[in-house]
Amino acid sequence: MGTRIITIDGPAGAGKTTVSKLLSQKLGCVYVDTGALYRGVALEIQRQDIDWENDEVLDVFLKDLDLNFVRQKDRLILTSSGKDITKFIRTPEISMLASSSSAKPQIRAALLDIQRNIAKTKDTVFEGRDMGTVVFPDAAVKFFLFADLSVRAKRRFDEMPGETKDISSVQKQMKIRDDNDSQRKSAPLKPAGDAIEIDASFLTVEQVVGKMLGFIEEA
Ligand code: DC
Repeated sequence: MGTRIITIDGPAGAGKTTVSKLLSQKLGCVYVDTGALYRGVALEIQRQDIDWENDEVLDVFLKDLDLNFVRQKDRLILTSSGKDITKFIRTPEISMLASSSSAKPQIRAALLDIQRNIAKTKDTVFEGRDMGTVVFPDAAVKFFLFADLSVRAKRRFDEMPGETKDISSVQKQMKIRDDNDSQRKSAPLKPAGDAIEIDASFLTVEQVVGKMLGFIEEA
């Protein structure tokens, strides 16, 4: 028998990460945040000052790129050429660059094997944008988690440290990312035909995970 794969796709700020972590704990399996990979690519593009819109330059860059997830205690860290880059990938700048550069089919293709190799050996909850549509079309159960833009922006705003934060700019940036992610040609954000859609606007994390566990049991 193969491994059991659960996918959770949806827009930024819908609560995918928190939900995926709790769901994987309840199921006793691994959890993978695939957005971290696109953020890792963006970080290296930024650090190496890569002209990623130039296909030839991008191909050379991707050939040398060496991103990996490494288990450290109970969490996965992201490494680039063996170095831990986890703490550098969560800035608003990297969010935007990950969103725009992830439209490149070469980047998506380069990350496919990393994702599918993890799935070969372990039951896993995968979180991302195209998990159910492209990367794992045969997943056991597929979820599409969404919430109102204003609710998502408020959540991100509350998570942000510092006093210089501004909710209207958080919401604006989020809308740009929503549009980038769902309007691109290559693997756009959308629910798979057989995905279970959950509106998390007015649900707690526990309620969302409770619903998911119910669907998983029935599957
Ligand atoms: O999940 P996240 O917000 O950390 O993802 C950052 C960006 O990476 C997101 O705006 C689009 C891209 N992404 C993607 O294209 N496909 C995925 N499976 C995950 C993320």
